[in-house]
Amino acid sequence: MNIRIHVIEAEPYGVVSPRLYGHFAEHLGRCCYDGLWVGPEAAIPNQEGFRSDVISALRAMPTPMLRWPGGCYADHYHWRDGIGTPEKRPERLGLSCGRSVLDDNGLGTHEFLRLCEIIGAEPYLAGNMGSGSVQEMCDWVEYCNTAVPTTLQRERAANGRQTPWGIKLWGVGNENWGCGGCYDPESYALEYRRYASMLRHVDPSIEMVFCGHEADWNQRSLSKMHLHAGLMDHFSIHRYWIGGGPGSAFSDEDYYRLLAEADQTEEFVKQTRMLLDDLTGGKRHIGIALDEWGVWHPEARTWGPNAVPGEAGDYGQACTMRDALATAAALEGFHRQCASLSLANLAQVVNVLHAPILTDGDQVILTPTYHVLKLHAPHIGAQAYRTEVDGTDTVPGGPAVSATATSGGITVVNRHLNEMAEVRLKWPQGSGKAMLLTSAKVSDENTSSEPAKVTTVALPVKFVDGEAYLELPPHSVATLTV
Ligand code: AHR
Repeated sequence: MNIRIHVIEAEPYGVVSPRLYGHFAEHLGRCCYDGLWVGPEAAIPNQEGFRSDVISALRAMPTPMLRWPGGCYADHYHWRDGIGTPEKRPERLGLSCGRSVLDDNGLGTHEFLRLCEIIGAEPYLAGNMGSGSVQEMCDWVEYCNTAVPTTLQRERAANGRQTPWGIKLWGVGNENWGCGGCYDPESYALEYRRYASMLRHVDPSIEMVFCGHEADWNQRSLSKMHLHAGLMDHFSIHRYWIGGGPGSAFSDEDYYRLLAEADQTEEFVKQTRMLLDDLTGGKRHIGIALDEWGVWHPEARTWGPNAVPGEAGDYGQACTMRDALATAAALEGFHRQCASLSLANLAQVVNVLHAPILTDGDQVILTPTYHVLKLHAPHIGAQAYRTEVDGTDTVPGGPAVSATATSGGITVVNRHLNEMAEVRLKWPQGSGKAMLLTSAKVSDENTSSEPAKVTTVALPVKFVDGEAYLELPPHSVATLTV
C-alpha cells in the first residue's frame, strides 16, 4: 500500500489529557496482591512493599493515573479495614467478580496512595455503594482530604500522613447495575444524588464519577438526574472487547473482528455524549469516564462468546501483538474524542485481563500492550489533530492503515495481516526518530521463557524535501517524533 497521511493542524480536537492514559488496579486475581504488592518482608526486591521491577516498569510506561480498589471489589470494600498497624488489620473475604479469596488488607489506603506518589500517578478511588454507606464514604473522603484537625484527620496523621492527599477523583460505586448492587437505573440515580450531595459537603473540590452502563440504563438514570446534573463531574462507561475468539489461537477473522470491536468504542463514547448533552442542554460539561476498557479473552471469563464454563481462574489471559494493535486502534478514538472523554483506565495494570505488565515469580514481563502504550507516550498532554489517510486498502471492519497525530508526534497503525504500508507525510522538521512495534506472527506474546519476543525497534525514516517516508510491516504500529 502507498499511503499518504495528512495532518490537519487547522482542525485540533483538543489536548490529550494524561487521564486518558490511566490504569486500573483491582484486588482481583494477581493484580494487587502478588503483581503490585508483595509486602515489605518479601524476598522479591521491593520498595515499601511494592515490587521494584513493577515500579520501574510503571514509571517508564508511563502511568499518569491509577484507579483502585475495584471494580466489583469496591462495592464490598470497607476502607477502615486497610488502615493502621498491618498486623491488626482484619482478614476478609476479598470479593470481586463472584470470587472469594483471603485478603489480609496489607495493601490499604496509605500503601496505595504511596504507590501513586512513587510512580507519579494521580489516584482515583472507587467508593462502596454496595455494602457500604454514605457516611462511610464521607469518612473516607474526610480521612484522605481534610486539613481540619478532626478525629479522622488526627487518625490519618497518627497513621503516618500529616498532609492531606487532596484526592480529586472519586467513583460513587462501580457497575451498580450489576455487581455493585443490581440497582435499577432510577434507584441508582436517587442513591447517587444522596451520596454526591453529602460527599460534596465534605469536600467541594472533589470530582465525582456517576456509574453509567448501556444506552437504556444511561437514559433512564440520567432522566432522574436532570435537575441535579451539577452533582456529576464524570459519567462512567465500561467497554470490554470479547468477540475476538481465543486469546492466542485466533483466526484471521477473529483478529479483524477484535480490532473492529476496539474501533467501535469511539461510537459508544459518541452516543453517550449525545445523552449527556441532551441532559444538560450543553450547559454543563460532564466528562465521559471510560474507566474500564480493554480485551477480555474467553480464558479469563465465564460469560460471553467462547467462555469456558466454571472458574475464570486468576483472570490472567494471553497478551499478544493483536491486543497491542487493538489498543492502538482504541487510542486513536480516545484522541479524537479527547474533548468529550475525560478519563480512561485500561483493565487491568498487572497480571489481570489486558495487562501491560505480567509477573512470574521474580520475573517481570512487559507485554506488547506495554510497548504500544510507551509508543504513545509522546501524545500525552499534546494537542491532537485530525488526520486523513489516503491510499489504504480496506480490511474487514474498515481501513487497513490509520493514524493519530498530536503536537507530540504521529502514530501509524497498519492492521493488514499481509501487506506492508509505505507511508509518506509532510514533516517540515526535517529530522526525527521513529520506533516500530511488530512481531513475526500477530499471535506472538512475551513469556517468561521469551520475554523480549515482541519489542520495539528503531524504524529507519527518510526525510526528503519536508516529507518523511517510513515503511510499516504488516500488523505493526510506529510512532514518529521530532
Ligand atoms: O475488570 C474486571 C471486572 O470487570 C471489574 O471488577 C468490574 O467492574 C467489571 O465487570
